[in-house]
Order: sequence, then C-alpha cells, then structure tokens
Amino acid sequence: MIMEIGKSARFRQNNVKFNPKCHSINQNPKLFNLFFRIMSQLNTKSSASKEPVFFIGSIPIFGKAFLAPMDGLSDSPLRQVSRRFGSALSISEFVNAFNFVNGHPHRENQIPFDPIERPFAYQIFDNDISRITTTAQYLMKYQPDFIDINMGCSNRAVSNRGAGAGLMREPQKVASLISTLVKEIPVPITAKIRLGWDENELNYLEIAKILEDTGCACITLHARTRVQQYSGIADWDAIAQLVQHVSVPVIGNGDVLHYLQIDEMIAYTQCKAVMIGRGAIGNPWIFNHQDREQIPLRDRLWVMLDHLARMTAYYGADRAPVLFRKFIKHYLKDADLPASFYQKAFCFDSSDKLAQFLQDILQDQ
Ligand SMILES: Cc1cc2nc3c(=O)[nH]c(=O)nc-3n(C[C@H](O)[C@H](O)[C@H](O)COP(=O)(O)O)c2cc1C
Repeated sequence: MIMEIGKSARFRQNNVKFNPKCHSINQNPKLFNLFFRIMSQLNTKSSASKEPVFFIGSIPIFGKAFLAPMDGLSDSPLRQVSRRFGSALSISEFVNAFNFVNGHPHRENQIPFDPIERPFAYQIFDNDISRITTTAQYLMKYQPDFIDINMGCSNRAVSNRGAGAGLMREPQKVASLISTLVKEIPVPITAKIRLGWDENELNYLEIAKILEDTGCACITLHARTRVQQYSGIADWDAIAQLVQHVSVPVIGNGDVLHYLQIDEMIAYTQCKAVMIGRGAIGNPWIFNHQDREQIPLRDRLWVMLDHLARMTAYYGADRAPVLFRKFIKHYLKDADLPASFYQKAFCFDSSDKLAQFLQDILQDQ
C-alpha cells in the first residue's frame, strides 16, 4: 500500500517538467486573487511555540512536529501548506547527488522553495562523498538553513548501491562524509537514519555516535530496518535508547498518524520532536493538533484550494491538477462523498476547472 503511493507519486513527478517561470504565486495576478480569497477563509492558527523547542546548531526550532521528506509528495507546495499549519521546519524530497553532478535534465526541479518554508533543508542522498559534497556546495547558493543527509532510504535501487540505508553499512565512510561536510559547508549538517540493515545488523547506536562525534547537529531515527522498509511497527524503544546515547537532538519518526501520538512519542522516548510522513498527507491539521475527522468538509475544501493554488504557482495550470490528484482522497478521507465526485475530480486537466469544481461544492456547504 505504502509503496503504491510512492510509486505513483514518483511516476507522475517524473513526467512533469518544472516551470521555472511560475513558482511564485505573487507572479500570477489571477492566482493571487484566488489565493487572497482562500487566505481570508483559512483558519490555520499554528501551534508553533513562543520559545524554541530545540536547536539545530544555532537555528531555533519553534515546534515539536514537522513534515517528513517524502519523494514525490513533500514538494514545496505541500511543505508550504504544512508549515502554515505549524510544521516546525521543512526538508526537501531527497536530491540525488549522482544526477545532480551529472547534469540530469530534471535536476533543478526540486530546488525552488518559498521563504515561508524556513527553516529549510535540502536532503541529499548518494554513496559518494565527493558528489554529495559538490551537490551541497552547489545548493548553498539557494541559502538553505541546513543540509540533511539521507541514510534511511530503503528503496533497493538506492540502498543496494550503498546510498540511503546502505550508507549505514559503512561506518568509516559515514565518519569521512560528515567530517568533510562539516568542514566544507557553512550551515549545520543533519542526518536521517534507520535502525540498521536488518535485525541482525542493528547499528543505529554506533552510527549515531559517529554522527555526533563528527559534528552532525541533529539525528532523525526512522525506527525500522532497511529490510522492514515500511512494514511492521516502528520501534519507539529504540528512539528512547538513542536519546540516552547521544547529546545532539534526536527526532523520532515512525507511525505517528494522529496528533495525539505526537505528545505520546515525545513522552515515551524523550525525543525533541517528531517527524511525520504518511500521517500528514492530506492532513496538515495534524500539525495544528486537530483531528482531520473533526474538520468540516467546507474547511477541508478551502485547504485543498490553497494547496492547489500553490501547486499551480509552482508547476503551472496544466500540470498542477494532475499532480494534485494524489492528495484528493487523503484530504477527503472519511468525508463520505459519492464515487462520482472522485471520478470528476480526477479528470480535470486545468487548475481553473478543478478549482471551480471545488468552489461549486463549497457553495453547497
Ligand atoms: C512515498 C514516500 C516517499 C519517501 N521519500 C523519502 C525521502 O525522499 N527521504 C527520506 O528521508 N525519507 C523518505 N520517506 C520516508 C519518510 O520520510 C518516513 O521516514 C517514513 O514514511 C516513516 O514515517 P511515517 O510513519 O510518519 O510515515 C518516504 C516515505 C514515503 C511513504
């Protein structure tokens, strides 16, 4: 089920060319008007705290939950929507350093981000220290607040070549990589890891110590092994153990699907904050400590219009409705709409038509 989301999202993403001319709402007057109306309807009282909850290096983080990087899903529009509801920071979908250094035609697609996403990090993956460093150096011209290294991707094509979770099998390389990045890159370096390759190779404590000793500013643990991928239950005891083992901030990740579980995970593990992936798809309310099931259809439709407007600004009016399809069912989970609604919503090939369709339904509410 999970991998289906990943696959279809990736497929669509790869078929969509980024339009660099239209990544800001402010540059499109028609969109700006719709956007203005949406903003006046939205109540996104963010749950951000007044005092920093923790620091990544010297960067204060004002919140205890944030959106996970998710390839094909957590693009700039989703990060913007999530951040407005209180996601404490933003991390890009993973950037493939191999593609980057080799001038892949889509390499610029994942770069633009909106200032409201800050604190913002690019996440990079590869198995080669020099390519990762070159990519991080290049990305510095866009002024991210920090750089995150992916040591958790379980995808076979990635991890079997020693990138993502595959990197955790080479502790010495991890040490050299982080030492190099800390020396060469002027912003904090963070890392996202798993428990290890499989249950016989649980080396998260060893890797985390290396990360800390070489200057990594924050560690996120997705508490599953590479072999588990997304199956089984995330091991929150391991997160608690890691918190005791290192002194840098630890972020817990895995299986937070309801806002009540944010405080549950923090209380259980003493982690500084929680990263939320699948539980935040079509559900930015989770960052606002609200239950999607309690959100009236009307409010959900306004948030969908906001998300669609941001996607239109980013991808253009012909591509946005196609890319938006993957979010529709998530936003409307348990909303009890007839199948004919989805049949129609999945057919629009222009943002204007889809936005009008959603607004028509709004009128009936
Ligand atoms: C479709 C999909 C794409 C993902 N892409 C990334 C990625 O690019 N980088 C990353 O670090 N993790 C990625 N992940 C893993 C998530 O960040 C997160 O660790 C995982 O979903 C567990 O958290 P959850 O239980 O809150 O979903 C992805 C997960 C999904 C479902």
